[in-house]
Amino acid sequence: MKIYVPMDSAAKALGADEVAEAIRAEVEMRGLEAEIVRNGTRGMIWLEPLVEIDMDGERLAYGPISEDDVPALLDGKIEALGKVEDMPFFARQTRLTFGRCGLIDPLSLADYEVHGGLAGLRRAIAMPQDAIIDEVKLSGLRGRGGAGFPTGIKWDTVRLAKAPQKYIVCNADEGDSGTFADRMIMEGDPFTLIEGMAIAGLGCGATKGYVYTRSEYPDAVAVMRRAIEIARGAGVLGADVLGSGRAFDMEVRVGAGAYVCGEETSLLNSLEGKRGVVRAKPPLPALEGFLGRPTVVNNVISLATVPVIFAKGAEHYANFGLGRSKGTMPIQIAGNVKFGGLFETAFGMSLGELVNDIAGGTASGRPVKAVQVGGPLGAYLHPDQFDTPFGYEEFDGQKALIGHAGIVVFDDTADMLSMARFAMEFCAVESCGKCTPCRIGAVRGVETIDRIKEGDESAIPLLTDLCETMVDGSLCALGGFTPYPVMSALRHFPEDFTSQKEAAE
Ligand code: NAI
Ligand code: SF4
Repeated sequence: MKIYVPMDSAAKALGADEVAEAIRAEVEMRGLEAEIVRNGTRGMIWLEPLVEIDMDGERLAYGPISEDDVPALLDGKIEALGKVEDMPFFARQTRLTFGRCGLIDPLSLADYEVHGGLAGLRRAIAMPQDAIIDEVKLSGLRGRGGAGFPTGIKWDTVRLAKAPQKYIVCNADEGDSGTFADRMIMEGDPFTLIEGMAIAGLGCGATKGYVYTRSEYPDAVAVMRRAIEIARGAGVLGADVLGSGRAFDMEVRVGAGAYVCGEETSLLNSLEGKRGVVRAKPPLPALEGFLGRPTVVNNVISLATVPVIFAKGAEHYANFGLGRSKGTMPIQIAGNVKFGGLFETAFGMSLGELVNDIAGGTASGRPVKAVQVGGPLGAYLHPDQFDTPFGYEEFDGQKALIGHAGIVVFDDTADMLSMARFAMEFCAVESCGKCTPCRIGAVRGVETIDRIKEGDESAIPLLTDLCETMVDGSLCALGGFTPYPVMSALRHFPEDFTSQKEAAE
């Protein structure tokens, strides 16, 4: 018998460690033959701690399980939810990037290989550099951190740059509120990120990689570091990657956790031991990045998707999706919803289906008022926009962005003026201070919204002007995108910007 208890941070926050310990003690007391495996999460956070028991090859799920449930669980007195793969939230997904997450023991390289791991790297090793890049281009993979820049073109820029040393830097800073895909895969399937980085290294001619993450992710840091040691010990990393004669090694670096350090140039400064302030572009990091050398900076999900592209072929991957948004996206559902968690699906599902059907609508049972997509810099979408398919261009057409694919749902008690104020306040707190529109604009933005709240109608065009200045004049996405939540709140929910005024009169 195998008993799976997640070691994912979200599951741990809900008591998974205590449940695992209670199972261990009960198994020992009863003298049972049982192996306890600490897996990643299956992504259905409302069911955590989700325990799975594999008996005679049939793996059944139970959840949420508390410490007190453990004796009854082992007595067979708790009703199973069935196989995870048959549960509607899971069965409707297309799991390519997250195919192994929650299924395997994250720190067993053997388990990883049994489930298709390293097939992509083995295939890449047999390919010349330009063929590796062509495969990524053909897959249509675009940067999953938010900007959606074609990954193959970025890699090619680094490959073609002439330099004695090149780097692969994984952006695992994941600062967007409501997002957790990077953390989940690092904790649940770390070898897939390692494999993706090794393939990137082979393709671009980079021999060294860094995973830059934040101190708020201690579990992910520990799992990644251990996985890197195991991979190095097994010859997956090091001077001779899987006997290819080519070198690639990597390490984890931990920042203190500043939102702006998720911006790539700020991240590179922090990685170099400097203060995390934004650098002007150009030069692009692809040409002058870490220590001034050509550097690929990719998000965790972009890199963790590379192994499945190489294992199954670029065309297989590109067959999923919609228009120029190829493949799948791990959508992170949070906020006021019944079923929060990670839902990986091909691009194209409508926002309404995701919110009402997959997420089950609001947990409060009240009507949905707004959905913020793409983190704190993402626009608020109104239920009138629920037909919008999940895709880069489709969201752009709605003056919105999919960003890192976090969606946060609000019911009709949300006050959108307060949410707009929060966006400006967030920007003021997190600004690196390098450029004026963001450093001063965000502070003025809070003051201007306060004037609107107090009934000063003339402050509304001022807020619009200020947002335009921030969009046009900011050096990076923090100042440049903060107007998205502010202006979308004003555009879709004008009543929230006037009701206070009327009340004041
Ligand atoms: P960007 O559009 O400036 O750049 C995108 C990427 O493409 C960068 O890596 C850039 O260096 C690269 N690039 C551009 N032209 C290139 C070329 N010709 N050759 C090679 N590489 C090239 O966008 P940026 O500022 O990097 O990211 C903004 C996005 O970040 C926003 O859409 C936002 O959603 C997202 N974001 C994500 C967060 C998270 O937690 N994941 C947090 C904050 C923002
Ligand atoms: Fe720094 Fe803000 Fe300017 Fe970005 S927009 S460079 S965070 S001051």
